[in-house]
Amino acid sequence: MFPRFAALMCLGLGLAVVRDPAPPLDNRLARTPPMGWNSWNHFGCDVSAQLIRETADAMIKGGMRDAGYQYLVIDDCWQVARDATGRLVADSVRFPGGMKPLADYVHSKGLKFGLYTDAGRQTCQRRPGTYGSEEIDARTFAEWGVDYVKEDWCDSEGLDAPTQYAKFRDALAKAGRPIVFSICEWGSNRPWEWGPRTGNLWRTTGDIGDRWASMIALLDLNAQYAMAAAPGAWNDPDMLEVGNGGMTDDEYRAHFSLWALMAAPLMAGNDVRTMPAATRDILLNKEVVAVDQDTLGMQGMLVQEPAPDLQVWAKPLSDGSRAVVLFNRSALQTVITASWRAIGFRGPARVRDLWAHADLGTFPARFMATVPAHGVVMVRVTPVTGG
Ligand code: GLA
Repeated sequence: MFPRFAALMCLGLGLAVVRDPAPPLDNRLARTPPMGWNSWNHFGCDVSAQLIRETADAMIKGGMRDAGYQYLVIDDCWQVARDATGRLVADSVRFPGGMKPLADYVHSKGLKFGLYTDAGRQTCQRRPGTYGSEEIDARTFAEWGVDYVKEDWCDSEGLDAPTQYAKFRDALAKAGRPIVFSICEWGSNRPWEWGPRTGNLWRTTGDIGDRWASMIALLDLNAQYAMAAAPGAWNDPDMLEVGNGGMTDDEYRAHFSLWALMAAPLMAGNDVRTMPAATRDILLNKEVVAVDQDTLGMQGMLVQEPAPDLQVWAKPLSDGSRAVVLFNRSALQTVITASWRAIGFRGPARVRDLWAHADLGTFPARFMATVPAHGVVMVRVTPVTGG
């Protein structure tokens, strides 16, 4: 049996979403969920060439590039107008010299460069949108050396999302440069149905806020569409808030673990130039990043809810093991038990703690651990004989 479905059957999960029979977009990009940094969550409209250069330098110095964070994406507000030929014009005060030299700088650091636009008439911050200019914008981005485009959905009243996003997909394909296509219509037009044939990732939710309640609301929404995810085509529950100050470190560990378990894009959204050690330890946890980046490309799912607010989530991995998150949504520290049966295993299995970076031993039928309030224990479970 096809390994992805075999793994799902093992998890005992039904088909939550029937995939569109149309073949997925094959631009050969984002075979694992995109990783990088985006300006919006921390900086909003306060973007500049200087910020991007400093961020690129910090991503290298701080080890983010080597941990897999590759795309450096400028979100809304870089653009101010169109010129006489219809090309987008960058803010000349904030981006003196325009985007090309900045893309060159980012590339010279071994990173990739991303920009934001909007499929409607104006961006969410009322900058020129791409509607009606799909071809020229795709060409312009390709000429500037753009590797990733996020396309938003503001000022799109009366437009059909699958049609508009397909237009830009086709324009990007014609522009002759490999460009990851990030669809951002907030899950408002069932993008899990047409996203796989249109883009490399699609938002399933509204915007994240740097708050526990927001993070878990997006988790629960994004979890519903797990069956749509596959290599090259990912559900996007929005960018990371890790390090932005609105949640505790336990909450940020939960946020990061669950995004990795869901094979979500890992786009850091903090100020990486001034990152405290606690934030660094979360974003640079290579064992958790490896779960996100696993080549099987399956989105993990909720598999067990032993009590209200106590959950077990599992993600099949390419080597036959499972990533498992014991998730305590309650405000009290408590013990959570994951049974091997719930994650699709029968015999004894080895357990490695991905936050403590420690092998915990072999367990015959289940694993239990004390989990902090609003926190997780994340392990990798490998069957000892068969599975
Ligand atoms: C929308 C998007 C956000 C961000 C802002 C920028 O709200 O969902 O991710 O890009 O626009 O204005």
